[in-house]
Amino acid sequence: MALGRDEFRYVLRDSVRREVAFAQTDQNRGLPAPPVQKPCGPGARLLSLPEARSLASLARLSLWNAVSQRESRRAYGRSALTLEELAWLLWATQGVKATAGISTLRTVPSAGARHPLETYVFVFRVRGMEPGLYRYLPLDHALCFEYAEPGLDRCLGEACLGQDFVGRGAATFAWTAIPYRTEWRYGLAAARVILLDAGHVCQNLYLACEAIRCGTCAIGAYDQDAVDRLLRVDGRDEFAVYLAPVGRKAE
Ligand SMILES: Cc1cc2nc3c(=O)[nH]c(=O)nc-3n(C[C@H](O)[C@H](O)[C@H](O)COP(=O)(O)O)c2cc1C
Repeated sequence: MALGRDEFRYVLRDSVRREVAFAQTDQNRGLPAPPVQKPCGPGARLLSLPEARSLASLARLSLWNAVSQRESRRAYGRSALTLEELAWLLWATQGVKATAGISTLRTVPSAGARHPLETYVFVFRVRGMEPGLYRYLPLDHALCFEYAEPGLDRCLGEACLGQDFVGRGAATFAWTAIPYRTEWRYGLAAARVILLDAGHVCQNLYLACEAIRCGTCAIGAYDQDAVDRLLRVDGRDEFAVYLAPVGRKAE
């Protein structure tokens, strides 16, 4: 694809809005809204998570300290996370606080409340959980087991262009976009706001990690096809946009 600098920059600017025929977006043409949450396959194994309210005592660090201590951490202690800690991180990044018609209101903002991101978690060391890939179901505050395979940690590091630390934490978050959720309302102007949405989610992960003495690092450099293969997504209607390993702060 021979795109020049101007074409690449084009998507960053909201002038794209001028070219979208909003009267023709699928929402305005009366098409049904896509599902808020990707359904699980038949016979999926679900793991319910500790209720959000019960997690409040985990995160006692002041907002001042969380914001000022935040940094990208690439070395992690070996100890496992608890299920409560993982539940806290999931809720802080995508937790649903209310539903309003076709929309959900969550712990993070999203353009038009479309929430186009799905959260996958590669679990390596979380107490009581079989290692493997899981997907968060925000409406149910539960995890859906996707698959397990030996060597996922190594494969993930390779898929992230040799950034081995991505597979060395206790768990690694991977966010995919389902662009149609946002395109349904904004047409092609969706692309830029989907990535803006992802930034909010990852920043909440940074702060939520600090609050429980864990660390994370945003990962935007990876082999697209390799990560999509590990997530078992099709790479067209759903594909990876961001990752973030999580682990205890190294002593
Ligand atoms: C969009 C984005 C992509 C990033 N991708 C990577 C990455 O692939 N690998 C990495 O080690 N750090 C990555 N980082 C982390 C940055 O290198 C880091 O935020 C920067 O060096 C500033 O350090 P600080 O976060 O500790 O303040 C990324 C950060 C952002 C926001």
